[in-house]
Amino acid sequence: MLMLKQHFSANTQGHLVIGGADAVELAERFGTPLYVVDEQRVRENYQRFYRAFAERWSSVLVCYALKANFNLAICKILQGEGAGADVSSGNELRNALGVGIPGNRMVFNGNYKSLPELELAITNNVLINVDSLQELEAIEGLASRLGKRARIGLRVNPDVKTPTHPYIATGLRDSKFGFDVASGQAIEAYKLASRMQNIEVVGIHSHIGSQILDVGPFEEAAKKLMALVAEVKKLNINLKFVDLGGGIGIPYKPDDPELKPEEVAEHIVSVVKRVVEEKNLARPTLVFEPGRYIVADSGVLLARVGYTKKRPDMPTWIAVDAGMNALIRPALYGAYHHIELANKIREKNEQLVNVAGPLCESGDFLGKERKLPAAEPGDLAVIFDVGAYGLVMSSQHTAQPRPAMVLVNRGKAEIIRKRECYEDLTRLDQIPGWLK
Ligand SMILES: Cc1ncc(COP(=O)(O)O)c(C=O)c1O
Repeated sequence: MLMLKQHFSANTQGHLVIGGADAVELAERFGTPLYVVDEQRVRENYQRFYRAFAERWSSVLVCYALKANFNLAICKILQGEGAGADVSSGNELRNALGVGIPGNRMVFNGNYKSLPELELAITNNVLINVDSLQELEAIEGLASRLGKRARIGLRVNPDVKTPTHPYIATGLRDSKFGFDVASGQAIEAYKLASRMQNIEVVGIHSHIGSQILDVGPFEEAAKKLMALVAEVKKLNINLKFVDLGGGIGIPYKPDDPELKPEEVAEHIVSVVKRVVEEKNLARPTLVFEPGRYIVADSGVLLARVGYTKKRPDMPTWIAVDAGMNALIRPALYGAYHHIELANKIREKNEQLVNVAGPLCESGDFLGKERKLPAAEPGDLAVIFDVGAYGLVMSSQHTAQPRPAMVLVNRGKAEIIRKRECYEDLTRLDQIPGWLK
């Protein structure tokens, strides 16, 4: 057994306990593969993140990044905590509205926002972080037609290097996101936007990447953004919202460092304070868009062991009923997720194993060269830290229905996303008349 994170425990039967519920009983009651989310952990993570900044700066808006997990129950928990929303599609925007998050506490991000999505955002007074000049013109045209003023910020590319997987590094100069700062494009875009009739320029935005465990890049981005805020003020544009995006990582491996939100807040707020005082700026609202930090470690995936295959001098293969269809991060980014046996949580991890899913690709694994207790058919594998970018990135590869998701809180458990069934797989298919 490893050192479990503090919100987990083991009971006298040697079973993993999450949110007061026995993981083995959850798997029996709801079936596998099963996502389980601990409500209290989501609340604690949000509160810790919010407090870290709110204790250091008077005006803070934490917009939960729905892309990490847009399930309605999760959104509802965060709405109850007072979170705003970072949405990256019209449908995420609808989810946020649906649970009662007002449009003026939302930011809308992305490099491709369709006209109907932009219309929805403008109508609901959502702050749109604009990614290109053509998008800016589209918003001006739409707002004029709707007889509204659209609230916008500009997403800028601060050219900050982040120590993370290249697929989720987004702040480098050659990334597809944002207006280039170094060449002056960002300033030119502010000039243009400020002359538009139906646009209210209120913010600046950057998101440098995801799963970052070092405070340095956040501090560098804050410095570059605040320098730009001061430049923009010379044009008589006072930016009320400084949005530093999301990206705070979590320790996935037992020996990964932890990046404390308090440390990030300390560094960022001291940069903001200094520039505000030196340049005599109005105090902006600081906006953050954490996704992973809020929900990742609140979730586990339970998967049933079907077969094991011993091989001489090589790790034993363990086949479980969840693979890259249910959790794609290991296959897509080589991401590490810790794995244990939930029904043998107190036993020693002595067997070298590879844990694989049921799909027809060699990329279909959840973990390689791991140590587990001797595994047998019927054991229950638990994959940790899957609350973010887990179920939302799942697929129906090899006609596997997507798993169910259950919310647990102090021993109570209820389904928050039903398991797909065969009919769900074929519901949208049609056979053309000429084939009948
Ligand atoms: C614009 C933006 N904001 C916030 C996030 C959330 O990032 P994280 O989950 O790493 O906090 C992302 C993630 O891709 C993003 O693209």
